[in-house]
Amino acid sequence: MEIGIRAGNCRQLWTMPHRAILREMRASDAEAIERLIAVSPEAGQWSAAGFFSSESKGVLVRIAENHGTILGMVAFRMVAPEAEILNVAVSPEFRRQGIGKLLIDYALAEARSAGAKHVFLEVRESNLAARALYARLGFSEAGRRRGYYRNPVEYALLLSRALA
Ligand SMILES: CC(C)(COP(=O)(O)OP(=O)(O)OC[C@H]1O[C@@H](n2cnc3c(N)ncnc32)[C@H](O)[C@@H]1OP(=O)(O)O)[C@@H](O)C(=O)NCCC(=O)NCCS
Repeated sequence: MEIGIRAGNCRQLWTMPHRAILREMRASDAEAIERLIAVSPEAGQWSAAGFFSSESKGVLVRIAENHGTILGMVAFRMVAPEAEILNVAVSPEFRRQGIGKLLIDYALAEARSAGAKHVFLEVRESNLAARALYARLGFSEAGRRRGYYRNPVEYALLLSRALA
């Protein structure tokens, strides 16, 4: 896989056989993201309206897209000097092609350049795919939150890593 930077500070990636870009979320993406989240039950179940509610102010959402098809999304926020990854999902048919890693790498690079020194997130203990991805990205366990998740009730692992 080859990665490049396009004018307008938008990172592009090329994969075979598809070609995709990483970019900011637009209002017109909301329904496609809601569909992506609906087929990703392990992701935070945000509604389209939720992306634009007052509570989501300060939440940054980045999208991987290929010719109008949303392949994946990551949502994060900055509370300097920390950043928090809030949600991530990749369309089931495009998983294990490096898109989740690219989305999080992109969020981490953006957080770093905005001054974040540390990043953290929560993940269900049973979510082995996400835990493997975060381990690959250098996150380690910083704590556990008992009964944090509902349906089913489950521990959250608090993961963190420094942003050098
Ligand atoms: C977790 C998720 C975002 C990963 O996206 P992805 O695009 O498939 O991940 P990548 O292809 O970038 O994977 C990078 C690395 O993470 C690890 N990984 C990712 N998915 C994995 C899986 N199912 N099993 C084991 N390792 C996995 C591997 O080390 C992988 O590298 P490799 O393919 O070279 O072995 C995706 O599975 C998803 O959308 N899950 C549902 C939503 C979710 O769980 N969100 C997280 C909430 S905290």
